[in-house]
Amino acid sequence: MTQEEIDKMYMQRCLQLAANGLGRVRPNPLVGCVIVKDDKIVSEGYHQEYGHNHAERNAILNSQFPIHNSTLYVNLEPCSHYGHTPPCADLIIEKGIKRVVCCNDDPNPLVGGNGFRKLEEAGIEVTRHVLEAEGRELNRRFFTYMEQRRPYVILKWAESADGLMAPSSLTKQTEPNRNRIHSDNTVRAYWLSTQAQNRLNHRWRTEEAAILVGSETYLSDHPSLTARHYLGPQPQPVVLDRRQRLTDVPDYWLHLHTHTVEEALHELYERKLQSVIVEGGRTVLDAFIASGLYDEVRILRSPQYLGSGLKAPAIPPTDRLIIIEP
Ligand SMILES: NC(=O)c1ccc[n+]([C@@H]2O[C@H](COP(=O)([O-])OP(=O)(O)OC[C@H]3O[C@@H](n4cnc5c(N)ncnc54)[C@H](OP(=O)(O)O)[C@@H]3O)[C@@H](O)[C@H]2O)c1
Repeated sequence: MTQEEIDKMYMQRCLQLAANGLGRVRPNPLVGCVIVKDDKIVSEGYHQEYGHNHAERNAILNSQFPIHNSTLYVNLEPCSHYGHTPPCADLIIEKGIKRVVCCNDDPNPLVGGNGFRKLEEAGIEVTRHVLEAEGRELNRRFFTYMEQRRPYVILKWAESADGLMAPSSLTKQTEPNRNRIHSDNTVRAYWLSTQAQNRLNHRWRTEEAAILVGSETYLSDHPSLTARHYLGPQPQPVVLDRRQRLTDVPDYWLHLHTHTVEEALHELYERKLQSVIVEGGRTVLDAFIASGLYDEVRILRSPQYLGSGLKAPAIPPTDRLIIIEP
């Protein structure tokens, strides 16, 4: 193998380790680290929890072997400033590591090249931009937040086999256990996704910082917007309510009175919410689609036919579309 191929192989392992922090390190980036000496991995680590050790510090402190003269692989430029922990660049220099291989430069102005400068001034060989595109993809929430100064936006809805996202009249339902039936035999809530899709949806919720709905969905569905069918961090629930009609929004929800998608995203950005899943309804999804301010679309397709009802949104062609069939 060439040195370039070897570098890519170990960087791939860094990205794999980094992904374990998804949902737990935000608004920090996902970072993994591998230390290699004499062609063998001697230690690994990743950033596990916001406010805790960075990946490099974990890998260095985890090592059971001497790491002097080793090569350290990490997918983000090592930090050079004091945050929750001291600078990783200082620790790398102190431990006598001779080469650092990195994937992405840190867009954080507090780092912005200073990490690399510090290492090079200490005589460490630095190789940059290994698997750069893969690293940006893994940290797409972080890069969108830092570079576009808005959260990463995922539009998500469930639609029936005939392309509807809600029935026209809520008087019939097919899965009684999962819906709320009132004394007059009408149904105020309905369920389109299968149990497996629902669990996947709740996993998706644990991966994002916030989850957002429009005021009509709040009024008609009273959604809890929790990730109760999957173990992990809970997203921040958000409701958009321009006319301030909602009177019973729980205190821990973010109850926004902003008028445009841009304003709403700015509020989320200011609150350091790095990503958001927009879960409907149709009007709010359409507003996001019209604004162009979204990054991914995810559709859960139901086996049910509704016949008539609220049509699911139409989206322009995108390569960032995931459709989960039943
Ligand atoms: N299948 C699914 O995945 C799914 C998911 C969610 C909902 N639904 C269904 O969708 C239906 C509700 O959808 P909907 O289209 O009627 O309502 P919606 O999108 O939930 O809410 C629309 C309302 O949001 C408010 N809003 C605040 N900021 C806005 C902005 N920037 N742009 C647009 N609207 C903004 C507006 O009311 P104000 O002007 O008063 O603020 C607007 O009327 C329900 O039947 C629900 O069950 C289905």
